[in-house]
This record gives sequence, C-alpha cells and structure tokens, in this order.
Amino acid sequence: MSAARATSLPPLLEMRGITKHFPGVLALSDVDFAATAGEIHALIGQNGAGKSTLMKVLAGVYQPNAGEIRVAGEPVRFQQPRAALRSGVGVVYQDLSLVPQLSVADNIFLGREQGGGILVDQAALHSEAERILSELGVSGVDVKRRAAGLPLAQQQLVEIAKVLSHEPRILVLDEPTAALAEEETALLMTLLRGLKSREIAIIYISHRFKEIMNLCDRATVLRNGRLVKTVDVASTTEMELIELTIGERVEAFFRHGEHAASDAAIALEVEHLSIGRTVRDVSFTVHRGEIVGLTGLLGAGQNELARALFGLTLETSGIIRRNGKPVQITSPKAAIEHGIGLLTEQRKTEGLVLNMDVRANLTLPSLGFFRRWAAFIDNRRENRAASAMAERMQVKTASTHAPVGTLSGGNQQKVILGKWLLRDPDILIFISPTQGIDVGAKAEIYAQLTDLAAAGKSILVVSEDLIEILGISDRIMVLYQGALLQTFARADANEERLLAAIQGNVQ
Ligand SMILES: Nc1ncnc2c1ncn2[C@@H]1O[C@H](COP(=O)(O)OP(=O)(O)O)[C@@H](O)[C@H]1O
Ligand SMILES: [Mg+2]
Repeated sequence: MSAARATSLPPLLEMRGITKHFPGVLALSDVDFAATAGEIHALIGQNGAGKSTLMKVLAGVYQPNAGEIRVAGEPVRFQQPRAALRSGVGVVYQDLSLVPQLSVADNIFLGREQGGGILVDQAALHSEAERILSELGVSGVDVKRRAAGLPLAQQQLVEIAKVLSHEPRILVLDEPTAALAEEETALLMTLLRGLKSREIAIIYISHRFKEIMNLCDRATVLRNGRLVKTVDVASTTEMELIELTIGERVEAFFRHGEHAASDAAIALEVEHLSIGRTVRDVSFTVHRGEIVGLTGLLGAGQNELARALFGLTLETSGIIRRNGKPVQITSPKAAIEHGIGLLTEQRKTEGLVLNMDVRANLTLPSLGFFRRWAAFIDNRRENRAASAMAERMQVKTASTHAPVGTLSGGNQQKVILGKWLLRDPDILIFISPTQGIDVGAKAEIYAQLTDLAAAGKSILVVSEDLIEILGISDRIMVLYQGALLQTFARADANEERLLAAIQGNVQ
C-alpha cells in the first residue's frame, strides 16, 4: 500500500486507550493498537502481557473499562463474538472453541444465520465443508467426524477454516501455530500471504520470532498490559524484537556466565562419527562445565547426531568416549546408564505423557518407552522429590496433580528438564529446547542451562535459532551437509559469521 493511501484512509481497525481490569489484575492499561487492510500485524509479548485480552476486547468477549474501537472509521462496541463476526471481525482463539460433540462440518457452520437450505441438507453441508477445507489446502479431514476425535493440529485447522468461511475483514489468529507441525505451519503461512491480497487486516499472535520476521509487516509489542511500541518488521531485527518483548538487553536475557572451561576435563568425546549419509565423520569434544552449541540449516545432520548420542539412531559408526573410556550407546537405556540425558522439542511424543499428572511425569525415568520402570520406584520419596523439583523449576501449575497436557509449552519443557535433573546425568543434550515457548519461560530455561554448566555439567544444545545459540554457547559447531564445517569460540562468533557458515561458507 502506498504511503499516501495509508495516511488518507483511516486504519481498518483502530483501538484507542483500551483499559481492562480483572479482579486484582490490570490486564490492559491505556493500549493503542491499529491495523490496516492488506497487512499482517504481529502482536507479541510474554505470557500474560495482555495479547489475548486485547483481542477478546476487540471481539466483544470482554467489555473494556475504558477506550474506543473503530472499524473502518466507525465506532463499534460488540456485545458478543457473534456480533463481531457479523461485522467482519473473526478470531481464531488460543483456547480452541470447537464443540467437541459436533461433527467437523457442523462446527464449521455453527451459528450461521441463513436459514434452511444447506443447514438441513446433510449431504450439501458435508460437501460444502469439504470445499471450504480444500480451499484452504487442508486434506485428510473427515468432515463427518466429531471434532473431539481429531488430532489437535487438525482441530486448529478446522477452527481457522470456520472463521475464514465467514470472510472476515479483520482476522485474528491467537498463537495458531502452537499446535501445528512444520508442514501445517507452512500451509498456514501460504494461506495468510494469500489473504493479504484480499485487503484483509490480519493480526497474528505468536511467540515465534522467526515466523514474525518472515510473515509480518508490522509488530506491536505489549509488556505487562502496556503498549511498548509498534515497529515496521522490515526495519527491525529479531534481536530488537526480543529486547522490546523482554524489556532488557538480550545479553541479560541469556545470562551468559563465566563457566567456559576449556581446560576442564573432557566429559564427552566423539570421534569419526558417521550416520549413513546424514552425518559424516564428525569429531568433537565437550568439556565439563561447557555449553556447546550445534547448529546448521534444517537437515544438516545436527538432530541425527544428537539423537545418536542418546542411542536413538543405530546405524552409526565411530567412537564415543565418556571420561576417556569408549562406550557403546546402543539404546536410550545405555545412554542413561552412561549419564547422558536428552530433551527434545517433541514434548508431546518424546518427553511427556500428557494425560499423566505433573508429578508422575517428573518421576518418569526417561522417554515414554521406559514408562514401565516407574513401577519400581519408591513412591513417597519420589513424590517429595517431584514436588521439590516442580518448585525449583518454577513450574506454573495449579497443582502437581494436574495433567501435564494442561500446562503451557514452556512449563511442559520445565517439567522435562526437571525430570532429567532428578536423574542427574553428567551430560545433557538439548534439541531445540525453547522452540515455540514464550520468552519468559525461555529465560528460565537459559538460566537453568547456565546454572547446570556452572555446576559442572556438560551441555550440548542443538538449535537452528542462531540468536539462541550465540546467547548460550561457549563454543559453536556448525554442521553443513552432515560434516562439521567449522567450530567457533564464543568470542569469534556473531550472527553474520554463523549465517555464512550454516550455508557452507568457511571464513
Ligand atoms: N478471564 C480472566 N480473568 C482474570 N484474569 C484474566 C482473565 N483473562 C486474562 N487474565 C489476566 O490478564 C493478564 C493478561 O492475560 P492474557 O491477555 O491472556 O495474556 P497473553 O495472551 O498476552 O498471554 C494476565 O495477568 C491474565 O492472568
Ligand atoms: Mg494469550
């Protein structure tokens, strides 16, 4: 959109001086927010910053204590979400709002006003629902199935389809990718880029800074219920966005300590490790008290390498030494016996049993497939240890008896980390430990990593997030097409040099 037009037309959405109190909480204080047609506008901030509340005020879920809202220059105040939807404000909520007992098709058409016709003709209803989903590029969803039976990611896509089928002028997505896998996320990104050309204003809430940098035109940052700033994404760095969100310098965020100990004993030594063609002849060491970062483009072999060190990849060749002695790590069980722990981004499949409570998850010895070991554990002692650990990790949960699946991603990750700390391995391997979690929980995990290293643990962190890798590592190894291309000392690394290295350019 041209600058002239942007100034001559009122923004499609304008919220001014919005204040919202809850008992004992000032959720929003005098917040201004505006979005224009044809833009994707990120709304970012830590958990509890007020993002969802601002959007619920927009949609009429909550009435503000003060402030005004205009759509296309006209003052509006919606009394309920259905009224907002009729006026073109569609919100995909963070907490899904599908009716579990109804079919996918019934959910998509729920609350639609036009009488008769399609709503009574089941066959027409189903084919129309299928058409809407396929238009969105969503395949493999049986529209006759009850919504409750669908995996979370598909529920999320149905929810988006439902809102989009109302053809909103203002579309709000509240953390839509939290439940989505990479492919589904890519699908959603394509969809949203397509919608831009239809002169819709899209408001996009996410903790994923990479997504925001790639997708969004502007970003508004909230902190503690207050507006921090609205910025143009093109002229802002990811680092700046993080700093606006947390309200301090990134250095403080990572709390990088003085634990780098290159003269400390070598805890882990890997020699000539190969895994088929994915990892080729990689050799390196990790010292006691050291945090080593391992990065590369997606698929450069870093995940396979890390998994092999935990016995999850078997077609390996090469030598692994623990404290100088060669060891065979042929299974996770063997890895654990050799004092190695693994924490991955696959919280739902590899770290936690979602329907078990926080306490049980903390005392699970390792990945889900060792679950049966739990039967042998002395219950009372473990319970006490679990409660103490939940406290130490500052896990935010109503009770340690709550199912772990009800916790936020960040708190789930703290439970997994706590679980490992109870087993006290000397070597901890992390794969994308903070992926998709909010910056507050990230900071707590970084602080734990720093403390662990200070206590003499050896830590290998695999991440494609270069800012994270730079922030926490003492040394950084870059893999390129399965081979170890370059190793940087912390002081020699910066974002530019890492970017060049992950693309195969040695300096
Ligand atoms: N319905 C509610 N009742 C009481 N407090 C609420 C309610 N909804 C949100 N809050 C509080 O308002 C603040 C902002 O929450 P929210 O808008 O959900 O933040 P965000 O979406 O940025 O994580 C938090 O302190 C939260 O606990
Ligand atoms: Mg929220």
